[in-house]
Amino acid sequence: MDRNFNLDFLRVTEQAALATARWVGKGERDNADEAACSAMRATLNRMPMCGTIVIGEGERDEAPMLYIGEKVGDGQGPEVQIAVDPLEGTNLCANGTPNAISVLAATVTGEGHLMHAPDCYMDKLVVGTECVGVVDITLPPRVNVRLMAKALGKDVDELIIGVLDRPRHQGLIDELREAGARVHLVPDGDLSVAIAALDPEAGIDGLMGTGGAPEGVLSAAAVLCCGGEMQAKLVFTKDEQRERAEKMVEGQVDRVFRTEDLASGSVIFSATGITSGDLLKGVRYKRDYALTESIVMRSNERTIRRIETIHRTN
Ligand code: FBP
Repeated sequence: MDRNFNLDFLRVTEQAALATARWVGKGERDNADEAACSAMRATLNRMPMCGTIVIGEGERDEAPMLYIGEKVGDGQGPEVQIAVDPLEGTNLCANGTPNAISVLAATVTGEGHLMHAPDCYMDKLVVGTECVGVVDITLPPRVNVRLMAKALGKDVDELIIGVLDRPRHQGLIDELREAGARVHLVPDGDLSVAIAALDPEAGIDGLMGTGGAPEGVLSAAAVLCCGGEMQAKLVFTKDEQRERAEKMVEGQVDRVFRTEDLASGSVIFSATGITSGDLLKGVRYKRDYALTESIVMRSNERTIRRIETIHRTN
């Protein structure tokens, strides 16, 4: 991945965040989503590349833009595969609550891989570097927290595990609490929790539970860049999802996917805050400028950059 692309991809999530921030707290999910997609698409189309969206807002017929297979870029330059979540946390943005972000991961074709994940659920387990090789998604959560505690040199009751607050997770939440772990419940946005689990300073030791598969691939791109480990299983709620996955994904769709099955090689990851949260500050308006905070990571050098940008508005 060419270094010059770093700033270009940063601009893409920044522009999406700036456009979406106008819809924070307005209760208008669709308008917020459309603003994010339009800004992301317009900025991608100015980049010197032959880009293809491999993870987007859905299929061509159900998403007005940034659908899977859509071509982006000015058509001159390397072939690039791009996974996007222009607005991760649509409800968070509409309700003006923390952790709405704009996210993208990309790789030049042949230099890296991003799994073309179907739009289904994914059971996820994400841990930081000290727990690599220690956990196993096929084991019960109570066993994994014991293994994590040992690897981290902590007691189980010192662990915090991030979980999406959903009725389907009640069993998981009860089991984690019975094992002694503390549970950080989030209303939406398991991608931010996955990234927090990779940061030893963030106070989250792991992510467990089921969320979107597209967000899972983006999480894996972050794991690849930061170190740490992700294990995942696709979860199908309809037969069509399984059939589609069988066409899209290499090998057995019921197997455990590891970080490198989801994202590998030379990958760049960029996320910009829309509403302020654990990971990033949101867009802040000043008299004649707006401030954004972003995180840009590259898997090649494992660099992690936090970038605050002043965008002149006059
Ligand atoms: P959106 O931004 O698309 O609304 O996704 C938010 C999110 O919370 C993801 O972070 C998560 O992976 C997924 O939705 C969970 O899906 P569900 O709301 O169906 O449980």
